[in-house]
Amino acid sequence: MVHAVYPGSFDPLHNGHVDVIRRASRIYDLLTVAVLQNPLKQTGLFSAEERVAIIREATKGMPGVQVDSFDGLLADYTRRIGATVIVKGLRAISDFEYELQMAHLNRQLNPDAETTFIMTATRWSYVSSTRVKEIARYGADVSKLVPRATLKRLNEKLGAVEVAG
Ligand code: PNS
Repeated sequence: MVHAVYPGSFDPLHNGHVDVIRRASRIYDLLTVAVLQNPLKQTGLFSAEERVAIIREATKGMPGVQVDSFDGLLADYTRRIGATVIVKGLRAISDFEYELQMAHLNRQLNPDAETTFIMTATRWSYVSSTRVKEIARYGADVSKLVPRATLKRLNEKLGAVEVAG
């Protein structure tokens, strides 16, 4: 039984994340989507609890997927929950250098967890949480970039965002 963890800020969850979650959940027996509670990152739009709630709603019905939050080092969290795989999404070469560094450091901190990469689907390769927030803050439509659960919460938080359907 292989337990994998997909860590991230997920502020907020977008369609690229959902694509990685869906594909990783087909590979591993159990996938924990782990939201970083980052006390240093005060710029977050959503609290860790809100981000967890969005991901739970968006992944409801996906077998083998659970959602959690963590603070501290990913290597320690991975060890604590007994996961042996770390899943990361790669959008472009620009992500690679940062992810390579993290993978090496995480392996040094927890040699029992192997980092694996899933190439983000081309259609979502240009989507990032930062850009989603920027567009939504101006009240423009992000309904093609994020799942409905995110759209709903963006609407509640920022007011002027269209909720499609
Ligand atoms: O979605 P993000 O912001 O790219 O996710 C980054 C995340 C949460 C995977 C990364 O910041 C992380 O693992 N943070 C926990 C602290 C840690 O373990 N840092 C790495 C030390 S080598």
